[in-house]
Amino acid sequence: MTCRLGILLSGRGSNFEAIAAAIESGDLPNAQIAVVLSNKPEARGLETAKQKNIDTAVISSDTEILDALRKHRVDLVILAGYNRILSTELVNAYAQRMLNIHPSLLPAYGGKNMVGARVHQAVIAAAEKTSGCTVHLVTADVDAGPILGQASVDVDPGDTPETLAQKILQQEHALYPRVIRDYIQQLALLEKLPHASV
Ligand code: GRF
Repeated sequence: MTCRLGILLSGRGSNFEAIAAAIESGDLPNAQIAVVLSNKPEARGLETAKQKNIDTAVISSDTEILDALRKHRVDLVILAGYNRILSTELVNAYAQRMLNIHPSLLPAYGGKNMVGARVHQAVIAAAEKTSGCTVHLVTADVDAGPILGQASVDVDPGDTPETLAQKILQQEHALYPRVIRDYIQQLALLEKLPHASV
């Protein structure tokens, strides 16, 4: 059984690379990447996908995203550094089948304006001792869907938003493939993967 992933990204794409590497190494054996979509033509992740001979498309609206996901028979949508908030229509079309990764221990430091360096600045300003990352299901409320997995890191006295982001990113790369693998297994048991091939 192989679950067809559709990756949405806007930039660097290091989480996408970690997922692709996990598939290649056999750590994520129940998935394949059907397509990588980006709203930014210059996204490095698009270039990486092309080098790996994965289908890509640059999209500018949620209608186009939905068309592309359907055309590529995507079972599970993976947001990997996608910087736009998706319409309720799109979120509902992939209800229970869309995952996101966020660089904090949700529900702390989540929500509409909590993106990129802002998250880590806020964590440091609040003198938190711990931060981390969260993989969650995407629902209409930003960063508020059911949590599927988390990993934590220590916030050290000398940490800057950059060093903290880097530490957390390393955890993201391990966490995301693992949570995807486990979630696919759950979906498969529930027989909710219409496009998956045996
Ligand atoms: C990650 O920190 C992720 O948590 C957030 O956006 C960043 C994406 O990084 N949603 P990359 O493009 O995967 O390198």
